[in-house]
Amino acid sequence: MLKDYFTTSPTISAQAARSAETGPYPPELNAVLSPEVTARAQQAIRGWPGYAATPLRSLDRLAADLGLGAVLYKDESSRFGLGSFKALGGAYAVLHLLAGKLAEELGRDVSLEDIREGRYAEQAKAVTVCTATDGNHGRSVAWGARLAGCRCRIYIHKEVSEGRKQAMEDLGAEVVRVDGDYDYSVHFCAEEAAANGWFVVSDTSYEGYSDMPQQVMAGYSLMAAEILDACDTPPTHVFVQAGVGGMAAAVCAQMWMKLGERRPRFVIVEPEHAACLLASAKAGGPRTVEVTEETIMAGLSCGEVSLLAWEVLARGVSDYLSISDAAVAPAMRMMAEGAAGGGQIEAGECSVSGVVALIAVCEDPELRARIGLDENSCVLLLGSEGATDPEIYRSLIEAA
Ligand SMILES: Cc1ncc(COP(=O)(O)O)c(C=O)c1O
Repeated sequence: MLKDYFTTSPTISAQAARSAETGPYPPELNAVLSPEVTARAQQAIRGWPGYAATPLRSLDRLAADLGLGAVLYKDESSRFGLGSFKALGGAYAVLHLLAGKLAEELGRDVSLEDIREGRYAEQAKAVTVCTATDGNHGRSVAWGARLAGCRCRIYIHKEVSEGRKQAMEDLGAEVVRVDGDYDYSVHFCAEEAAANGWFVVSDTSYEGYSDMPQQVMAGYSLMAAEILDACDTPPTHVFVQAGVGGMAAAVCAQMWMKLGERRPRFVIVEPEHAACLLASAKAGGPRTVEVTEETIMAGLSCGEVSLLAWEVLARGVSDYLSISDAAVAPAMRMMAEGAAGGGQIEAGECSVSGVVALIAVCEDPELRARIGLDENSCVLLLGSEGATDPEIYRSLIEAA
């Protein structure tokens, strides 16, 4: 089957290995994500109108081709109608921020539900939230701001597609395009917010800024909770793609808290032109890489690690891999045509990074053995987005 889609086999561009910690969730990591913070977020989001757990699909044909026990794919393409898992993070953080701010201002308890139901609409109007984004996080923040009734300003870099910009404007956000890359847009947004008294709701944490990214990750943790709810036995491996590392850290922390030493082995996948976690793993501490070429996996094009996420990843992840763009579109077509199993799956550019890396690892006997993949393995992949830019999605599949 694979030969029908890939003219040349996918390969790993670079790799790094570290020894991850065994044993229970380290208590020090509660400062990053704790059972209380994640449970609060999960409970709140499960109560939102339109909430439904996203499907966990079995890519049985891919598993058979690769000689693995099972390959599971968490399909986030339908999440709250926003097309990606990001709907869980930014929107939750906006509601959390507003509830906290108004409670402080009014001197009384304000719940997330009060905010979501518009009970403080007048006060909310005076608040502006902002963020930098390559698309999906901004869409979530814009959606959260609309739910909360506050203003929203989004900063995008020069490569973000018009389709993604429009999707955020459709949610009522004012979108500003800056002349630089993603990391430049993050800094630009932080400066404008400081100058204007706006509130940054970023998905990445940097020196002195961690509250919002913590809440964003708490929202993401729901994805991992749903996965564990849907599995009879937990996966043995998780191949998880990373931009700044927030999603990977949230999934890793949630599974670590719930499963302790039975947690799966974590493998991080990044685009070769934005492999900041791989560089950090090699250096033994957070490192920035300069993004000189944009990958088609737009959501993963980040050169700076989220410091909060790194704290979890540094202790919980054993393998770091990077891939090129070459096999992304063929993998998207394979999923769209249902050839991997699990039905026809709308898997966006970022979503197939785990699929590509898994195929590449399985076809490299040395790497396969090192990562411990065999016929008993159950590998979890995170289908983090659907066709978040339908035009790009269509053109990639047609050209593959
Ligand atoms: C679809 C998609 N997948 C994965 C990621 C990576 O998430 P993180 O930046 O938290 O590592 C992103 C980030 O924007 C994304 O949009």
